[in-house]
Amino acid sequence: MTPLQPGDRLDHYRLDRLVAMGGMASVFQATDLYTGGKVAIKVPHPEVEREPQLFERFRREEAIGLKLNHPGVVKVLPDGKRSRVYMVMEWVEGRSLKQIIEEEGKLPIDRAIRLTISICNALEYAHSQSVVHRDLKPENILIDSEDRIKLIDFGIAGQAGARRITFAKFSDTMGTPEYISPEQVKGQRGTARSDVYTVGVLLYEMLTGKVPFTGDSPFVVMNERLLNNPVPPRELNPAISPQLQEVIYRALERDPRNRYSSARDMAWDLEHLDQVGVADRAELRNWRNRRTPRTRQILVYVGLAMIPLVLFALLLFAARH
Ligand SMILES: Nc1ncnc2c1ncn2[C@@H]1O[C@H](COP(=O)(O)OP(=O)(O)O)[C@@H](O)[C@H]1O
Ligand SMILES: [Mg+2]
Repeated sequence: MTPLQPGDRLDHYRLDRLVAMGGMASVFQATDLYTGGKVAIKVPHPEVEREPQLFERFRREEAIGLKLNHPGVVKVLPDGKRSRVYMVMEWVEGRSLKQIIEEEGKLPIDRAIRLTISICNALEYAHSQSVVHRDLKPENILIDSEDRIKLIDFGIAGQAGARRITFAKFSDTMGTPEYISPEQVKGQRGTARSDVYTVGVLLYEMLTGKVPFTGDSPFVVMNERLLNNPVPPRELNPAISPQLQEVIYRALERDPRNRYSSARDMAWDLEHLDQVGVADRAELRNWRNRRTPRTRQILVYVGLAMIPLVLFALLLFAARH
């Protein structure tokens, strides 16, 4: 397959502009020559077409998109007769949440809350259709000029019951280091509660301008959430109320059993912040004491080194009495 370029015709679409080129596919803005309307067309890279597992994943993204029908989820248009494999979506005019945070920094509190509630509502719908997104991040949330959100990129979304696809380089349980849940870091398959965790990361970032866990390598970033607590949001932005901070902590619970059980519960709390009881959290007191795998190792070695010393002291004590 020859690479496509702006200006090319693809069946009854004209490609107008290359919008993004990712690992698996290129996204073009295009015109539907039947209706004159704008659409987005996602075309898998030739390598993807040759690799059956990646290809199946691409088809699954399309199948999930066709099944979901919600104002907060990008619409995928059904397949007509096509000369090659590609996905057609409604064109979403706007910016990604990533661009918005880059351009505007911290968002005003009420706007961050409103956006998060919309994200929760779209997720609640997807979850009700047994679809878990598993790769939520600011690039995958588009926001139009009226602040309406659209979730895109269900590329590694799981349909409960769908056959699990594993592939050579990284497992399909993986999202993006900054945004994935602790259980996904541990190699488990993401669930609805994993998406809720990620919404907690997004809300933290919208309110503070920073992601909760950072590091020099993806491994460190992922591991941080297993070992340490983030800087409390209120330390970074005192305008955040204790109740709003509590909602973030409830979403970021390391153990999924302690987390909000659904996106709807999280949205409900955000809509009724005055009713949120603020817990006395250890995370608020001990976040400065950072644990690292290295210091734990050193402690173990120091402990082991103490054993002969203690034995020697005991022998000495016994010998003298
Ligand atoms: N329906 C759409 N309307 C407008 N822009 C889109 C649309 N879908 C994707 N894009 C743009 O293309 C980028 C990549 O799309 P995405 O589906 O996330 O692909 P990838 O799997 O490569 O991450 C998005 O971040 C967004 O900027
Ligand atoms: Mg994407």
